[in-house]
Amino acid sequence: MKILVVGGGGREHAIIRALKKSPDCTEIWCAPGNGGISYDATCKAIPATDVEAMVAFAKQEAFDYVVVAQDDPLALGMVDALAAAGIPAFGPDKAAARIEASKVFSKNLMKQYGIPTADYEVFEDPAKVMDYVRARGKYPVVIKADGLALGKGVLICQDEAEADAAVKEIMLDKKFGASGNRVVVEEFLTGPEVSVLSFCDGKTLKPMVSSMDHKRALDGDQGLNTGGMGTVAPNPYYTAEVADRCMKEIFLPTVEAMQKEGCPFKGCLYFGLMLTPDGPKVIEYNCRFGDPETQVVLPLLESDLLKIMLATTNGALDKTEVRFSAGAAACVILASGGYPLAYEKGKEITGLVNGQLPGSDAIVYHAGTAVQDGRLVTAGGRVLGVTATAADLPAALEKAYAAADSIHFDKLHRRSDIGARALAALKARE
Ligand code: AMP
Ligand code: GLY
Repeated sequence: MKILVVGGGGREHAIIRALKKSPDCTEIWCAPGNGGISYDATCKAIPATDVEAMVAFAKQEAFDYVVVAQDDPLALGMVDALAAAGIPAFGPDKAAARIEASKVFSKNLMKQYGIPTADYEVFEDPAKVMDYVRARGKYPVVIKADGLALGKGVLICQDEAEADAAVKEIMLDKKFGASGNRVVVEEFLTGPEVSVLSFCDGKTLKPMVSSMDHKRALDGDQGLNTGGMGTVAPNPYYTAEVADRCMKEIFLPTVEAMQKEGCPFKGCLYFGLMLTPDGPKVIEYNCRFGDPETQVVLPLLESDLLKIMLATTNGALDKTEVRFSAGAAACVILASGGYPLAYEKGKEITGLVNGQLPGSDAIVYHAGTAVQDGRLVTAGGRVLGVTATAADLPAALEKAYAAADSIHFDKLHRRSDIGARALAALKARE
């Protein structure tokens, strides 16, 4: 099969490397891709959000299957447009992608179907938000833009002044554009966070191995929120008992709710969960693989990813094996100094040969790299994700950090405590 992956970050690189293990995958392309992905796939410089150009290209190249990995093309209906052109694709259609693209949609869905989540109210009028926040008088309070905002539309406000500033930023200054026409005001929850990605074919759901993201820029979960500075899998807080509960109280009810709403979910459904003292609750849904969760989840997948993806499209997931290894994986992100704020690009990356580490079985996933005059250089905030798998988490972390330490570029920034909390949780259980 000739396959196209839409997107151009570390997640897409991980999907490509997993798909290439399938005997049915004979040719693989990526649009737009990036410098490092070009060692593994043929890259084509079409923006991921240009639905029309992407569909025309897919028709022209006669792809057998397209994997839409990024949220915004899914929200724009790329899967619908490909289907209309006769090309099957992995991912939800536009109606089902609302589960991520509109927080108002997902919160109302959870309320209607009794799926545990933080209590909330929806507002369209900025004045009414502050009346409500003041009358409620409980802090912190969480204020979220309704639509997609590159993961930056969630503001945790410690007092009235911060809430006022958040409302101004989202609803009046329109920092996230039309995504801020409505806001969700939400109760602040506490507890360990768990990411669970799952395959879904509209009626059957099969969860992947759980993972833990590290969203803050600096050690000790300090600094600004980022797209994710590292991940580990499995997540030690996600015990068999918690998994059982999530399946019954969250995963299956969500699949059923989407069916009943007339928008069955096909593709990868991502559950961002918080294990609160009152049980697991949904913090957010994503309609796609997580980044950098994918970089630790897919290396542990033992079954054929292409077969599973096709099964989600064809409604055959119940008959398709989804098996993970019993081991662990860790991913350390190497970022450009300054990220998530301003950073420099074009720094030469040394230590890699054809994008990988010679003599190491760690995998280097490329997020923001480019090839310039035959040299590999930095081209984004998150540059590389270095993943290692091993029999257990301590071994995976040691391998990932050893590999990360042999890669260099000017102003490289990474966290040195990825997995520390997971290790502490494992120790506490002994
Ligand atoms: P999101 O962009 O929706 O993943 O939110 C970013 C982060 O904000 C989450 O990973 C949580 O750590 C935090 N967060 C979101 N909603 C809540 C909430 N209701 N209570 C506490 N923390 C939250
Ligand atoms: N790592 C969080 C996300 O992909 O949304």
